[in-house]
Amino acid sequence: MSFDLVLFGGTGDLTWRKLMPALFQAFRHGSLPPEGRIIGVGRDSMSDDQYRALIHSRFDQVELAKRPSAGEFEQFAALLHYLRMDLSQAADYAQLADILKARQANTVVMYLATAPALFTGICENMAAVGLNGPQTRVVLEKPLGHDLASNRAINEAVLRVLPERQIFRIDHYLGKPSVQNLFAMRFGNSLFEPLWRRETIANIQITIAEELGVEKRGAFYDNTGALRDMVQNHALQLLCAIGMEPPINAHADAIRDEKLKVLRSLKPWTPETLKQHAIRGQYAAGNINGEAVPGYLQESGVHPDSRTETFVSLRAEIANWRWAGVPFYIRTGKRLADRDAHIEVNFRPTPHAIFKSPQGAGNRLVINLQPKDGLELHLFAQGQDNRAGGRAAGQTLAPVQLDLDFDKRFGTERVGAYERLLLDVINGRLNLFVRSDEQEEAWRWVEPILDAWKHDADGPRPYTAGTWGPSASSAMIARDDYCWSEEC
Ligand code: BG6
Repeated sequence: MSFDLVLFGGTGDLTWRKLMPALFQAFRHGSLPPEGRIIGVGRDSMSDDQYRALIHSRFDQVELAKRPSAGEFEQFAALLHYLRMDLSQAADYAQLADILKARQANTVVMYLATAPALFTGICENMAAVGLNGPQTRVVLEKPLGHDLASNRAINEAVLRVLPERQIFRIDHYLGKPSVQNLFAMRFGNSLFEPLWRRETIANIQITIAEELGVEKRGAFYDNTGALRDMVQNHALQLLCAIGMEPPINAHADAIRDEKLKVLRSLKPWTPETLKQHAIRGQYAAGNINGEAVPGYLQESGVHPDSRTETFVSLRAEIANWRWAGVPFYIRTGKRLADRDAHIEVNFRPTPHAIFKSPQGAGNRLVINLQPKDGLELHLFAQGQDNRAGGRAAGQTLAPVQLDLDFDKRFGTERVGAYERLLLDVINGRLNLFVRSDEQEEAWRWVEPILDAWKHDADGPRPYTAGTWGPSASSAMIARDDYCWSEEC
């Protein structure tokens, strides 16, 4: 099968940090179809060889399981080409069309790794030169819009030139092996399904914590904030994966229909819940791993009076038969105490206690997403005291855990998120991509929060870099008599 992959934004950050390393890994794993061509598109003039050298030099700055040997890179580089384009000029698309039509590849992928403001124009210009045939697939990177209206405008414009089945909206969290395993755990095993409901589950906590700050993306981030950057997409997709009903099969639309139902069932915000259940924070100077780091307002590209949130913590509810009344807590932030993404499913206590259990602990399933990838099941067992005969048997229980480490089981060089997603686009598999209605529903749910924060005289609450966010986040969950895992 032959393919052409056109990378708009071919010299940008996303291309050299994520896409090229992922394509290289796919090449190394032998999973790229052999007759491939990758065309980087950018504003500067350069030859194919200069582009190859640029990408090669950038490989030194990215994480790769194994550095490529010179020969290995050379073989990969033979796939790379470069085209200078001014994306606002129709004539430049005609030139691209000539290049692509001369080859007639089975699949043409247009990867829009550019600012979202350019998406509509690129799609319209592509269509004007006939680059929207059935072999074309368009990949749209997040953020897709800034709010519901701009998201809709982009979706409508793209849908005018291509049908939904040719549009691949990326949420790279869906490509992570750990998230694949979440689906496998829920829908490939019968064990958890009977427990997966309000009668047995007390609450669910989704944490995506980062140690990094905004790095070199200050200006972009200042215009975005954590709610748009992480919650509207990654965190809500995780919530869907946890909360959705079993799909009738593994086809893209069956999965997406179920995720959509979850998003539609999210309890709407009220002025009261917006105040109590939507907490925002912004990091102040602090320490990460023993090193002093500046506060958000001191980061380059950030406005010195910025009110942009770098931390969000929310309490959501899925209003349906399975989940009514079960709080789903979501928190995410930059410059937190640890790099750690996990989901904690906290089960209800036994209805009647005949043992003494240690305070605070309880039965829970922890789904570790990163940096660890695995499952932990926390249970109670008879502890040391009983074996030593020091106490009457059966009195006190100790917490114990079953631990499944997927990295140990399957090895660490598994297919990464972008590698999998790029291969899925080339092979036309839509399962792990987000449909327009899902995306709009997610925007519809977060928009009242954005509005409330815009009009709220109080800005985000400061938190010291290297902590778990503002204390209001702990207070929010404590009002339900629960606690975040590191506090219990
Ligand atoms: C991106 C956000 O979508 O996800 C970044 O724009 C964030 O701000 C990143 O750092 C986190 O991804 P990962 O895979 O490192 O958890």
